[in-house]
Amino acid sequence: MPAQLVERLSKAAVAKSFDPMTDIDWDEPFDLERFYMPEEDISLYGTPIYDELSRTEQIRLSLHEAASAMATGIWFENILKHKFLDYLYNKDPHDPNFRFMLHEVGDECHHSMMFGEFVRRSGAPYYPVRWWARWGGQLMKETVSKATVFIGILAAEELMDYFNRSAMNNPAVHPTVRRISQIHVIEEARHISYAREYLKGFSKLPAHARTQTRIGSPIVAWVIASQIISPDVYTNLGLPSDAHAQAQSSPHRKAIIQQAAARFMRFLGEVGVITPYTRPAWRATSLLA
Ligand SMILES: [Fe+2]
Ligand SMILES: [Fe+2]
Repeated sequence: MPAQLVERLSKAAVAKSFDPMTDIDWDEPFDLERFYMPEEDISLYGTPIYDELSRTEQIRLSLHEAASAMATGIWFENILKHKFLDYLYNKDPHDPNFRFMLHEVGDECHHSMMFGEFVRRSGAPYYPVRWWARWGGQLMKETVSKATVFIGILAAEELMDYFNRSAMNNPAVHPTVRRISQIHVIEEARHISYAREYLKGFSKLPAHARTQTRIGSPIVAWVIASQIISPDVYTNLGLPSDAHAQAQSSPHRKAIIQQAAARFMRFLGEVGVITPYTRPAWRATSLLA
C-alpha cells in the first residue's frame, strides 16, 4: 500500500476522532415518539405485516431493529479487531501500516462501545447473530485469505455506511441514532479507503490467492449481509411467524439492500473479484441485482 496514503489516513484518525461516552448525548430519552431509522429502512416496511402495525408498534420495531443491527456491528468489529491484531503480530513499527491498523482497532473499540451503550440503554435485548454465523465468524478468523478478510470488512462497512448516511440525514430519526451514525460515517471513511486500497492490488496477488478469494468472498459477504437484522426481533415483538419470510421476500427490502451494496459491487467488479464466473454466486448473496 502507498505509504503516503496510509500516513494520511493515520493523520485523519488524529484530526477527527470521537469519544463514545462524551461525544454522544446519552441522556436523550429512548421514547416511542421518533423512529430509530428512516421508516423505509425498516426490514418489514412495505409488507402486509408492517401495514397492520400501529405507529407505536412500528417505532418499537425500528428501535429493536436498530439494536439488532448494532449488535451485529459489534460481532463484525470483533472479527476485524481480531484479524488486525493478527496482522500486527509481526509488523515493524517503521511500516506506516503498523500505526494505521492500531488506529483502526482503536476506532472499532470505540464503535463497539457506542453500539453496546445504545443496546444497553435502548430497553431492547441483546440480539446475537445466528449460531451458524458465530461459527462461520470463528472459521473465517482462522482460515480465509487476507483479501477475503478485506472484502468482508468492506461488505460490513459499505452496507453500514449506506444505512448510517440514510439515518444521519433524516431529521425524523431519533437524535442519538443520528449522532451515532454521523460518528460512524466519519470514522469509517478512512477504514473504507484502507480496505479499498488493499483490494486495488487484487490482480497482483498470486493466482491461488485470487482463486481462493473469488470462491470464499461471496460466502463471507452473504453471511454478513444475512445477519443485519435478527429474526428474534420479530418473535420477541410477537409478530406473525412469517415475518422473517415476508421481510426476506419483500421487493422493497431487496431493492434497499442492493442499493446499499451498489458501490461495493461496482468496486469488486473493477478490481476483478467479481468475474463472469463468480457473478451467479454474488447474485445469490442478494447484494448484486
Ligand atoms: Fe465501526
Ligand atoms: Fe471500520
